[in-house]
Parts: sequence; C-alpha cells; structure tokens
Amino acid sequence: MQNVTVTKARDSFTTGLGVIAATLGSAVGLGNIWKFPALTGLNGGAAFIIVYLLSTLMAGLVVMVAELMLGRRSKSDALTTFKVLHPKNASWALIGAAGVLSAFLILAFYTEVAGWVFAYIFKAASGAVLSSDPKVTSAGFEKLITDPVQSVFWQCLVLVFVGAIIVAGVSKGIEKTTKRLMPVLFLILVMIGVRSLTLPGAAAGLEFLFRPDFSKVTGGVVLTAMGLAFFKLSVGMGTMITYGSYFRDDQNIPMTALRVMLADLTVSILAGIAIFPAVFTYGFKPEAGPSLLFITIPAVFSQMPFGNVFVVLFFVLGAIAATGAMLSILEVPVAYLHQRFGMSRFKSTALTVILLALIGSTAALSNSVLANFKLFGMTMFDFYDFLTSNLLMPVGGLFICLFVGWVWGEEKVRAALSNDGQLKNGAIISIFLFLVKYVAPLTITVILLRGLKII
Ligand code: PHE
Repeated sequence: MQNVTVTKARDSFTTGLGVIAATLGSAVGLGNIWKFPALTGLNGGAAFIIVYLLSTLMAGLVVMVAELMLGRRSKSDALTTFKVLHPKNASWALIGAAGVLSAFLILAFYTEVAGWVFAYIFKAASGAVLSSDPKVTSAGFEKLITDPVQSVFWQCLVLVFVGAIIVAGVSKGIEKTTKRLMPVLFLILVMIGVRSLTLPGAAAGLEFLFRPDFSKVTGGVVLTAMGLAFFKLSVGMGTMITYGSYFRDDQNIPMTALRVMLADLTVSILAGIAIFPAVFTYGFKPEAGPSLLFITIPAVFSQMPFGNVFVVLFFVLGAIAATGAMLSILEVPVAYLHQRFGMSRFKSTALTVILLALIGSTAALSNSVLANFKLFGMTMFDFYDFLTSNLLMPVGGLFICLFVGWVWGEEKVRAALSNDGQLKNGAIISIFLFLVKYVAPLTITVILLRGLKII
C-alpha cells in the first residue's frame, strides 16, 4: 500500500513564487502578530529581539534548511522521510512521530487564538468590542473567552475553514490560497504601520522597540526567545519537511530559507511598528502580554482617527496570517495519513479535524469549565504552548541537526543542497555543514538546559 502511494504522482507546489508564498505563509502567523509583540513587550524590547535574532541565525534557520532538504530528498511526509532516508535504523522516525504529535498540540491552542481573531473581526466591525476604556475592552475579551459555547464554536469554525482548503490539495488549496493572501497581508500591515508612525507617540514606541534593556534577559527569557525562533520559522516539528517534499527540484533551498526568514522578520518588526507607537501615544503599557492584541489594541486604536477601520483591518491581518500557518501545521498529519495509510485527502483531513476539535476543546475551555484543571501549574492552553515552543520544537530541531550532520552525512548533504551539482554554492554548503554539526546542536542544548534550570 505504502509503495503504491509513494510512487503515484504527488501533488506539489507548481511555481517558484508558489513555493515562497506557501513557505512564507507558514512562517508568518500569530507568532508575528500576537506572540512577537507580546513577548517583546514583556521581556525588554530590543534586548529580546537581539537574542531572538541570534537564535534564529544559529539554530532556527539551520534547522529550516535541514528540514526542507530532507523533505525534498525523500518526497515524503515528516515520519516516512526518516524511514526512506535511513532505512537501517527505524528509531530516527521518532522525530517525525514527535512532529505529528506537536502538530496536534500546537493546533489545539493555535486554532483557539485564531478563533478569537476571527470573532474579533465581526465584533470590531459591529463596534461591540471598541472603547477607549481598557476596562471595557478587557470585559469584552473576558466575555468571549469565558463563554464555553462561543470559544468552542469559533475554534471549530476555524478548523472547518482551514480543513476545507487542505482538502483542495497542495497546489489548488495551499499554494493558491497563500499566493492570494500574502500580498494582502503586506498591504494591510504597511497601511497600519504608516497610520501608527504618524501618531505623536511614535518616537517613544520606536525607542522601546529598538533600545535594548538587557537587565530583563534571564535564562528563561533566552529559552523563550529561542522557542519563538523555532515557532516563527515553523521548524522542529516536521512542517518544513512536509513542505520541502512539495518543493521543485530546481529550488535553491538555502536562498529560499534565507528569504523567508528575512521576510518573516520584516513582518514581525512591522507588526511591532504598527503596535507600539500607538500604545505609547495613548498612555498604555507595553507589558500587557498575550492580551495586548485583544484588550490593548482595541482600546488604543479606537482613540485614533479612523481607528475603528484600523481595528477591523488589524484582525483581518491576524486572520490572514493565522490561516497560512494553520494550513502548514494541519498538512503534517494529513500528509502522513494520506501517504502511510493511503487514505484520501478528504478522509485524512476529516479525521484530523475531528481529533483536533476534541483535543482543542481542552484549550478552548481552559478559561471556563476547565479553568482549574492544571498540569505543572499551567492551564491546558498554556501547557500546550509551553510544551511545544519551549520543549518539543527545540528538541525536535536538535535531533534533526544531529541526524543531518552526523548520520546522513556530508556527501549526501552536498548533493542535496547543490541540487545534484547544478548549483555552485559550495561555500554556503560548507557554512551550513559547520552550523548543523556543531553550532546549532550546542546552542540548542545549552539554552534548553539553562532555560529549564538544569545547569
Ligand atoms: N510560524 C507560525 C507562526 O508564527 C506558527 C507555526 C508553528 C506554523 C509551527 C507551522 C508550524 O504563527
């Protein structure tokens, strides 16, 4: 069964532009619009951004190149990739299995936040959540997240929405959707950024974003920054292996990864530029954390001229970003079920979505019915987030580096990254080999052990 489906013509991305749109669509998401500004606000502004950038260069980007390369070579899902590339030792496939698990855990909380974002488009358009008083916007947000019916409803709606796109396939679903949405995302982001920069408090906001305060940077903060680097680039859990398997054979992988990383960083910084000047202009604090998006933003934006329009635009932006990311996470288990068990795309998507609705509801209900149910002192929502970003993705990334650098070996890496000798990027490959063998594994190990207070 397995061989039949492997050899059958696989659906894949059709153009170079499609590859970039889909991969960037995966990287850009709630991580840029919700996590990046909130974490930067909480952890010392530019100091946090510098640590985040270093972890991106020394670990995140390296794992991204490694994953895309493995996927393109195996033309298989995240789990089968390791079986195909290293049939002698089946235990490496555990990396892929952990990735499929991570996909479920990330989507469990991600679809919930996306549900709030989708709900806020309508709530902001009707004026229901807009007020210059943060007490009012805070009450509005509380009302949504503590209502079990609404929380589960919006989450399921989001699941069905992305499920429908996934069923349409890799080229007709994922590629087509992200190709249309990415330009809109940039346009909205620039519009909001210009509006924010022309406010009187712009200088204070920019100063916060670009002046480092290193006193806030502890071992835990460094781990958070590295976790964000993995989360942002969608690496360490098989998404990039899966997408790599849809890459064209003539795609230059290191260049693609670098471009996607830079564009993703630009979106994060632009989101910061859109948010912090407005926050400072109207006397709010940057350290609001995860509620920044849902409580502070409506309160801040409703005070500025044409603010209502900009709040709606802001949540449309969030919804677009979240969609491309969710597609790429959902594709991990769907591709696996499709290839491994020969299920149709419809069947594998339906099964995944139903399972996700079940697991996800434990996150959706963590502010209401399950508020007192805690694991390691965290609600299920926070637990899924912590477990994936701060543990599973970095550990997954570590093992991917070890596999590529030490098991798969230099010769195969050189062949895979030079597109079998068609590309003359020997120096880049040598740098990659050094990073993947030594720098990335060491960085990840030290940061993990320090962040978890083991050393
Ligand atoms: N990169 C996405 C974001 O920033 C999240 C994501 C994580 C997507 C893991 C795919 C895999 O929102």
